[in-house]
Amino acid sequence: MAGSHVLQLTAVAAVVGTISYVLYTIIYNLYFHPLARYPGPKLYAVWRIPLILDRISGNSVRTIHAMHKKYGENVRVSPNEISTISPAAWKDVYGYRRNGHGGFDKDTIRFYRRDPIGNGATAMISEDDNNHARQRRIFTHAFSDRALREQEPLLKHYTNLLVEKLKDASADGSRKVDIVSFYNFTTFDTMADLTFGEPLHLLDNMDYNPWVRNIFAGIKYVAVADAFRGYPVLHQIQRARAPKDLKEKREYHLKFCHSRVDRRLEKEETDHPDFWSLVLKAEGAKGLTRPEMHVNSQLLMTAGTETTATLLSGLTYYLCQNPDKMKKLVDEIRGSFSHPDEMTTVTLPRLEYLHACLEEGLRIYPPVAVGLPRIVPPEGGDIDGHPLPGGATIYFTHYPAYHSEKNFALPDEFHPERFLQGEDPRFANDKMDAFNPFSNGPRNCLGKNLAYHEMRLILAKVLYSFDIELLPQSQNWTNHKVYTLWEKPPLYVKLRPLQQKA
Ligand code: HEM
Repeated sequence: MAGSHVLQLTAVAAVVGTISYVLYTIIYNLYFHPLARYPGPKLYAVWRIPLILDRISGNSVRTIHAMHKKYGENVRVSPNEISTISPAAWKDVYGYRRNGHGGFDKDTIRFYRRDPIGNGATAMISEDDNNHARQRRIFTHAFSDRALREQEPLLKHYTNLLVEKLKDASADGSRKVDIVSFYNFTTFDTMADLTFGEPLHLLDNMDYNPWVRNIFAGIKYVAVADAFRGYPVLHQIQRARAPKDLKEKREYHLKFCHSRVDRRLEKEETDHPDFWSLVLKAEGAKGLTRPEMHVNSQLLMTAGTETTATLLSGLTYYLCQNPDKMKKLVDEIRGSFSHPDEMTTVTLPRLEYLHACLEEGLRIYPPVAVGLPRIVPPEGGDIDGHPLPGGATIYFTHYPAYHSEKNFALPDEFHPERFLQGEDPRFANDKMDAFNPFSNGPRNCLGKNLAYHEMRLILAKVLYSFDIELLPQSQNWTNHKVYTLWEKPPLYVKLRPLQQKA
């Protein structure tokens, strides 16, 4: 009797304790939390679970976009998390640290991973500031203007191969072509040659190899797993539910990447400059450990492939949907060159409309659509004068920022003219200081120059060689999910090859 009484009391205490905890959490998060002053949906302010559900369903970017439309520039998207679309973020959050202000650290609790593969090394993107500065200085040699000029023949080789393969695929001009795959084949082949000193042969074989398929699957898996980070129990459950063959695939992936890096580093000489020849020429073998070379190779292969292919896919879609803009671009490209061989790192940047189209593509369909989270330092900080408590997470979410009327006129429409100063008065008040698709400050994109040249070269060669028409099944192509990067379905187009001058 006494035993069951104790049990009953324990059960009642547990229920009362749980209800009290839940009530305390609700009241604290809504009214007393230091972020309580920021607007946002109440449910999201109380629990992180709604945001986790949005992230695992690939809808977080669109949900956050809707929140910014309703609540303004700075929105509380979970109890301890702010999304901002304010241009001030580029100085206050991502900029250089000045007098203890700005330049917040990367959020390694919920997003960036230290020692991600257990070899004791961390890639520069996730490193602390000191190690990041050391690694980045070494890699800078491989991303300078001079390096790009040395890499030019390699980029030319793969873009020529792309055009050749597109000609084969379009043959009589009636077949449908999934242009997303072709852009991916090209950027992966190029980046593999720069990172491993040997090609992947995707364009040759016109197919993804298992290693590249693993990368795509891995990006999605990590994005879903990251949604649970910071919640150890949920994170463990999620890991336990991971597909059984995941470990095997991961090991295959690492072996593939690392063996190629090792093979490349064993070579004294290479017949063309790749990242390592430029790094080693400047620094010798000092400065980076072999495990650091391994993890950074993985970084280069993900950061430098999907991103550029995504921009090219999105831009191709918007150009096809806006025939007047497509005509203007095609006229500029075909009127500027009498042969594609004339397209170089010197001549291509002179094409103003091509540059404006790339910028507008990066705005309307930013390859990095999500926010890249930073942690407010213990002493606190601010966004545009609004105080932020130490330990809070904050990020500039690219897609909502670029689709907000607060920053851009007619934000959902494709108008490259907004990037041509004085061309169209409708865009005179666009906040260009909000636009940083490659991020800003000391942790911005290291591959920006390379990315611009690659995107210019690929798009210019494709539009020089083909007329492109969007097929009906791809009319609503942009309506897809985001797992850190866009989950792009095929983009079906019809290509009509043009007669080339000899
Ligand atoms: C349209 C194409 C691209 C876009 C939009 C883009 C965007 C970005 C962004 C937003 C970041 C900052 C990440 C953060 O804050 O965590 C970044 C970092 C980085 N990107 Fe890119 N990227 C592109 C192409 C490339 C290419 C072609 C490479 C060449 C390998 C590259 C290499 C890197 C590297 C190494 C970092 C880390 C830099 C550091 O931590 O210092 N990216 N990129």
